[in-house]
Amino acid sequence: MTNTQLDMRGRDFVALADYTQEELYALMHYGIELKRKQKAGDPEQALRGKSLAMIFEKSSTRTRVSFEVGMFQLGGTALFLSKNDIQIGRGETIYDTAQTLSRYVDGIMIRTFAHRTVIDLARAATIPVINGLSDLNHPCQALADYMTIYEKKGKLEGLKVAYVGDGNNMAHSLIMGASKFGINITVATPNNYAPDADVVKQAQEQGKLYGSTITLTNDPREAVADADVVYTDVWASMGFESEQQKRELAFRDFQVDEELVKWAKSDYLFMHCLPAHRGEEVSEGVIDGSNSIVFDQAENRLHAQKAVLASLMRD
Ligand code: CP
Ligand code: NVA
Repeated sequence: MTNTQLDMRGRDFVALADYTQEELYALMHYGIELKRKQKAGDPEQALRGKSLAMIFEKSSTRTRVSFEVGMFQLGGTALFLSKNDIQIGRGETIYDTAQTLSRYVDGIMIRTFAHRTVIDLARAATIPVINGLSDLNHPCQALADYMTIYEKKGKLEGLKVAYVGDGNNMAHSLIMGASKFGINITVATPNNYAPDADVVKQAQEQGKLYGSTITLTNDPREAVADADVVYTDVWASMGFESEQQKRELAFRDFQVDEELVKWAKSDYLFMHCLPAHRGEEVSEGVIDGSNSIVFDQAENRLHAQKAVLASLMRD
């Protein structure tokens, strides 16, 4: 199946909230198809001759490599633009950067701090803008994660996902994705680290349409009880490094370890977007154990993002 039934050309990919359930399923299935074709030695070169500019204001391993390789596999090319190397680092505006890049390339991926920067870039650019992580969300990761769960469990609707830890960008995109895919998600955080109330409200509204529930708690056991998926992320995200010590204290009862996962279903999947800190948010035994699928998630960044790139940037 190629993604011909839904036309997404020219659109931005800033948040999962901007896409319908049907569109997200189409992207997911297209990612699975692109993965199959690539592995069969029959890559789909939907973006021959196209270029993607990749602006990075934060570090990255997976996002950089998967977008760069993804563009190459689709027949195009990608340019790595660290903020230290381009004029944004010296104060050139987002508007001027967006307008200029729109004259050279066919799409922009940005990893940045303030979510506002992604929105401003998308408004000012005349080409698709893809969010490669902001302080508010990480939609490419969540799309790849739900694709990974679908591959392993054969379905999404009705599953229970437990997210344990910081109510951060990752939590927000997982919550929004869950609401679209008919998944029940329970998020366990310490009191002052709950996910953004607006994101939760919006997801709860969406969830009513697709039969999913969004539950918040301070009790990791309640979240993990009978879960199909147990997900965690770092306690101090990029930009919050100065809070590391304070957070280690606040989150000390929120480690996903062998004791906690006993509450999950026996065939639960352990997930983490990576990079991980073994001994903090997750024990070595869990992340390196047989239920862990963290590298399948990392791999699927490539395939899911190729579906996004090809759908938005093809002629
Ligand atoms: N998960 C993820 O986005 O990883 P990177 O920070 O390495 O890109
Ligand atoms: N929440 C993490 C995700 C990294 C991929 C961060 O923002 O640093």
